[in-house]
Amino acid sequence: MSKIVFEDVHKSFDGGLRVLNGVSLKVEKGESHIILGRSGCGKSVLLKCLTGIMPVDSGDILADDISVGDKKRSKEYLQKFSILFQGNALFDSMTIIDNVVFGASQKNKDKSERRKIAEEKLLAVGLEKRVFDLYPAEISGGMQKRAALARAIAVEPEILLFDEPTSGLDPVTAGIICNLLKETIKSLGVTALTITHDLRVAEFLEDRISLLNEGRIVWTGHARDMENSGNQFVENFHRASNVITQRSAITAE
Ligand SMILES: Nc1ncnc2c1ncn2[C@@H]1O[C@H](COP(=O)(O)OP(=O)(O)OP(=O)(O)O)[C@@H](O)[C@H]1O
Ligand SMILES: [Mg+2]
Repeated sequence: MSKIVFEDVHKSFDGGLRVLNGVSLKVEKGESHIILGRSGCGKSVLLKCLTGIMPVDSGDILADDISVGDKKRSKEYLQKFSILFQGNALFDSMTIIDNVVFGASQKNKDKSERRKIAEEKLLAVGLEKRVFDLYPAEISGGMQKRAALARAIAVEPEILLFDEPTSGLDPVTAGIICNLLKETIKSLGVTALTITHDLRVAEFLEDRISLLNEGRIVWTGHARDMENSGNQFVENFHRASNVITQRSAITAE
């Protein structure tokens, strides 16, 4: 049984905009799967449908064979997931440690145990004790990303969802965060689903990559096979991404 299954998922918005037009995809247990696609192609909508924030029009999404629409089992379904949001979504009025305690409080644990878990997770993502009592605005973007990851794993999820995990970070910090995400996926043994438009992030985190275009998954495979996939969209995406990489290398010189 696959960990996550998308079955012919359709989603449109008022005015007739058809964003998801038959998405089918299987993510296996313990896999790091990437959904790669252009800006505006529906990646965030897909993530919102997966987490039940947005209802699908037709088709189904299953996690461990539980449907996103199964009201009786919705708690069981939702507890499987934890999201690292694009904008980190830390609570500004809470200290870093309290943000992570909040994550830990999703499980039935007492106060001192929650604090212990929070400290453990913060140290695991490489944050030092001196930042525990600071507020999000007082730490750098890279540190905020680490804190948000600590909060996400404090829930002890089976599935980690990463929404554009490196957006807003400089290339060096982005690389460090990608390393941290990879280590985290491996050490926790979770299933991970990352959505991104950045081929370098996809290449680094992949077990497999799926390309989303015009509302469908048009190809699934490894980054190294994109160039000769025989699919025009996939080959163009690969070529365009490499042109950008070369341009940034030139600018950086
Ligand atoms: N609540 C909504 N109501 C109407 N249209 C929406 C809504 N949410 C998303 N859309 C539309 O769906 C399309 C896909 O949006 P989505 O945010 O999923 O793109 P994306 O692939 O995540 O893009 P990016 O890479 O820029 O984050 C866009 O045209 C967007 O305007
Ligand atoms: Mg998005």
